[in-house]
Amino acid sequence: MTFRPSFLLGALLLTAPIAAQDAPEPPLAAPTVAPERIVLNLAADPAHAMAVTWRSAPGLPGFVELAEAGDGPDFVKSATRLPAQNDDTTIAVRETTTLHAAYHSLTMRGLKPDTVYAYRVGDGTHWSEWLQFRTAAVTLRPFRFLFLGDMQNQILSEASRTLRMGLRMAGDAAFVVHGGDLINRHDSDAEWGEWFAAGGYAYGQTPQMPTPGNHEYGRGPVLNPQWQRQFTLPANGPAGIERLADTCWSTDYQGVRLISVDAPQLHGVPESRAAIVAWLEPLLAHNPNRWTVLLLHFPLYSLEPQRDNDRVRDALKPLIDKYKVDLVLQGHDHGYGRGTVGPAGPGKGGKGATYVVAVAGPKMYDGGIQGWADKSATNTQTFQVIDVTDRGMTYRAYSAAGRLLDETVLRK
Ligand SMILES: [Fe+2]
Repeated sequence: MTFRPSFLLGALLLTAPIAAQDAPEPPLAAPTVAPERIVLNLAADPAHAMAVTWRSAPGLPGFVELAEAGDGPDFVKSATRLPAQNDDTTIAVRETTTLHAAYHSLTMRGLKPDTVYAYRVGDGTHWSEWLQFRTAAVTLRPFRFLFLGDMQNQILSEASRTLRMGLRMAGDAAFVVHGGDLINRHDSDAEWGEWFAAGGYAYGQTPQMPTPGNHEYGRGPVLNPQWQRQFTLPANGPAGIERLADTCWSTDYQGVRLISVDAPQLHGVPESRAAIVAWLEPLLAHNPNRWTVLLLHFPLYSLEPQRDNDRVRDALKPLIDKYKVDLVLQGHDHGYGRGTVGPAGPGKGGKGATYVVAVAGPKMYDGGIQGWADKSATNTQTFQVIDVTDRGMTYRAYSAAGRLLDETVLRK
């Protein structure tokens, strides 16, 4: 009998189910010789330093070439080559037994404030393109930043549009703050691949500032093995607690003190909770900045009553009220809410911090009674643009389609 592949293919197509079965694990993308997953992170002193991290195939060294950016191409002649830290490592990942990669990082120090720098990363032979960033000014200067809630699910196919719309509409954002659950499965490398593909080259020019969510943690809690290798966040968390290194951090940017609190550990690890509270109080008490923004994954006020987290609220609310934190950025609830809660609690009046819950990805919860929220929404992916001046912080939330959803001005 003559074999007729076209006929067989047609029959298969006609009988193939339309709905996808359980999705197989995506293939592991092996690290390449060319530098990849390049990301900037703000340093603790962003007027004088900037951190860059990337990965490559194992066995390769890492270098950064750095120069003040010029109007023409001659800046490359004045570039300085700096050796990076290299972490040639094997980690366990879901998609296969192990991932072998070289992670490279460098905190570029001694930079001039309010200056545009160009840099590229590579092994001395294979280089990235030249990327550019601007250091912060040393004093309060108007700027804007972006806040995104959980990207977490269908990161590349459906969450990326929220990030990218944010970067289109606020392309001059000084940095992007992520409220945790950047990925869904703590042991997945393919999901990190999606996260990096979602941001692409933008991560190499606009610093990304994440706090971990519960999905960055496995049981234990054990932090996702990529986190500390692929981000170079300010190493100024609670002293002597290694498990909180790079998950609790703070940085001062042009009049704003931005603080990340590791919510999963605050919630689940009593020793970490005590250490975080002890670390946070002096950060809030001795703050020369005009504004204070707190970033954590678990919301103090939930969008659904059954998701209320009094342990996190009891630990943080007294400090937020006592030291007059301005803005609290949160994720986890897969919906949108924004409201001001005074020291006496929701609906009791009084001046207090503004609390925001948002989600960037497509996973949505129904949402219940949101008595604390002045504005809420369900089934809505959002990005938030915060414009900072000495007189106020103008906060705006936009849907992933670019529609203005919410707007308020925070004043002292
Ligand atoms: Fe979460």
